[in-house]
Amino acid sequence: MKENNKKILRKLTLRDKINLLSGKSYWHTYDLTKKGLPPIMMCDGPHGLRKEIIADDELMPKDTVKATCFPPLVNLASTWDEKLVKEVGQAIAKEAKKEQVSIVLGPGINIKRSPLCGRNFEYFSEDPYLSGHLAKAFINGVQNEGIGTSLKHYALNNQETNRLHINAISDERTMREIYLKGFEIAIKESNPWTIMCSYNKINGYYASMNKYLLNDVLRDEWKYDGIVVTDWGAVSDRYIGLKYGLDLEMPTSKGYNNKIVLWKYLTFRARRKYLNQTARRLVNLIVKSRENLEPNYDFDITSNEEVALRACEDSFVLLKNDNNLLPLKKDDKICIIGEFAKRPRFQGEGSSHINAYNVYNAFDELKKAYQDVKYSKGYNLEKEEINEELINEAKELSKDVDKVLLFVGLPTSFESEGYDRKHLDLPPSHLRLIEEVKKVNSNVIVILTNGAPVTMSFVNDVGAIVEAYLGGQCVGKALANVLTGKTNFSGKLAETFPLTLESNPSFLNFPGEKGNVIYKEGIFVGYRYYESKNIPVLFPFGFGLSYTSYEYSELKINKKVIDINDSIKLKLKVKNIGNYDGKEIVQLYISPKNPSNKFSKIELRRYDKVSLNINEEKEIEFTLSSDDFTYFDEDEKRFVVNDDEYEILIGASIKDIRLKTSIKVNGEKILKLPRKLTLESTLYDLCYHPATREFTFKLLDPMAKSMIGKDAKYLFEHYDDDMISSMIMTKPLSGLPSLAQGKVKKWQLRLLLIIMNRKIRKYNRRLD
Ligand code: BGC
Repeated sequence: MKENNKKILRKLTLRDKINLLSGKSYWHTYDLTKKGLPPIMMCDGPHGLRKEIIADDELMPKDTVKATCFPPLVNLASTWDEKLVKEVGQAIAKEAKKEQVSIVLGPGINIKRSPLCGRNFEYFSEDPYLSGHLAKAFINGVQNEGIGTSLKHYALNNQETNRLHINAISDERTMREIYLKGFEIAIKESNPWTIMCSYNKINGYYASMNKYLLNDVLRDEWKYDGIVVTDWGAVSDRYIGLKYGLDLEMPTSKGYNNKIVLWKYLTFRARRKYLNQTARRLVNLIVKSRENLEPNYDFDITSNEEVALRACEDSFVLLKNDNNLLPLKKDDKICIIGEFAKRPRFQGEGSSHINAYNVYNAFDELKKAYQDVKYSKGYNLEKEEINEELINEAKELSKDVDKVLLFVGLPTSFESEGYDRKHLDLPPSHLRLIEEVKKVNSNVIVILTNGAPVTMSFVNDVGAIVEAYLGGQCVGKALANVLTGKTNFSGKLAETFPLTLESNPSFLNFPGEKGNVIYKEGIFVGYRYYESKNIPVLFPFGFGLSYTSYEYSELKINKKVIDINDSIKLKLKVKNIGNYDGKEIVQLYISPKNPSNKFSKIELRRYDKVSLNINEEKEIEFTLSSDDFTYFDEDEKRFVVNDDEYEILIGASIKDIRLKTSIKVNGEKILKLPRKLTLESTLYDLCYHPATREFTFKLLDPMAKSMIGKDAKYLFEHYDDDMISSMIMTKPLSGLPSLAQGKVKKWQLRLLLIIMNRKIRKYNRRLD
């Protein structure tokens, strides 16, 4: 801790420290200017600045300041481009600095467990590796400018239904490998100034007072020493929260919760340690934040918009392009159908809503290149009903053009913070429009506006499909650029598009009931499930087309065996062999050779986005370490390197693997041994434990020989392919008296257990 911060800390009284525990207002920390701690301001986040214009004593804001609306996180994710995401972070930080905002509340990295989650547009991916690394890039971008971030929502906040109180129930391995992994990566690699805990409960305890999440994992294991702030109003028990490492309550409870904490200190003489720790962390944050603010700071709006435009272009995913319908040719006669072309829905609803400086629509932008382009509304965004008149008008226009650009998608009310989607379908009016237009023109290009996957009954009936997601304020300009081929498509899906809602792994357990949602699918989230179960999907993870094509070659690996704490290097070449400059996202997956129920068939481990002009070839290098082959072992309570052979798969998507090699991982061979045997243990358990094996064999030999003419070892080795062996070996000891028709007595078994457990204790002592 810096000397100056120590000095400030020393001057703080008990009451000062308690006051600091809660905000001064909706967006500011407590005002302790006299002690050198003026309030700092925090604002949403994440894809731009949402600074409310609000007097401190007002509850509802009048408006929010103008800001650049960058592409929402669903778009940023499909760029797979850490450098670009970092630039977006930097640009947002500049706007925050100008507004004297010290912390941007984002990024959100909750895993897309279900495509129904109303807030998926604000999150990155269904994959924790990708989410964690993009979050790291964003955080580094913002924080390099001296502005803080708030990595949110920690944790297991994967739905909006009952988000304020739902109890997310998950086993530890699933949490560590899927739902916490992204946080772990981002925290270790970019150290966000703050982390925002979620509203919900996790395994019975609210996130804001969850010992496992806050104390055991975040503070003790990951050594996070920044600020944990509540989601807005997420305090449950303020004192317990403080004890486990929750620093700051936001917004203010106007002293209410602080009094409860003070009372604990005055009456129960609670330990000062927790309060002092939090005060130290808050002093560090406030001083650092104030030091980085510059009174007359300004930024260049045009260059921020240029970043927003580039990020948007690189985020679009070309899902289908039969007969090279796209890019549009200069002399193509086109028409534009669908209100989204003139009134883009460029961001999601809720706390991330930005008051955008400018909004560019695709119609105006395309008109610049196609002056006499005709437009028809096709549907009414305000009304859900099918409008026959609008559909007929659209059909008439579509008849005499070469290509139809058809803009459809999810209207605003379909996706928002606060509630989940009810289904994955487009509105009936949009679906009918596609159906009718394709009857009169076979060159239909569908452009989708949506924040999360939709089903596509029309997938085989239209010529091309562009997934634009939401895009931010530059969506219209960016679309005109990619549709005309000025820019190439380079986005790929950071999530799977399922064929049906029912095929999603969380379908039967979403959004839960009676206050609980059970994460029964375990680690098999998104592609981990579809691939492991071989379930067909609409568009797979990592998929996206381009106007050019790429050739992958010469995969080389420097070692075929990897030990614990060791690493390997892989090299390969990628060449642009088409007629457009472009950018390719090269993905590296691993696949264990002996997949058991415990392992997903395939998992993403690395990626790289590489820019390649026509005919250009580049070498790409990846390093993998033994940490990339771990799983979380619940008995060991740690990540364990799995001993197996693995295929290393390099591809253009999870379904388009171009190069392969394999390695042997010399991992840990963990013997799962019980610490104690009980009447619920089986004879198999007694044979399995090295401490009791020989003794058990001796005991069982006569019985085995008289029953089946084999020894006990045979029973043990054939418990899973011989019926008699299985009966004897897998019956719990408590059931043996009846199985042995009274020849074995319970008291004998109890005696046996005393002997066996003594042997096990001795064995454990030797190991410990
Ligand atoms: C949201 C957060 C947001 C906060 C402040 C909450 O309701 O969940 O993501 O940062 O409000 O607006």
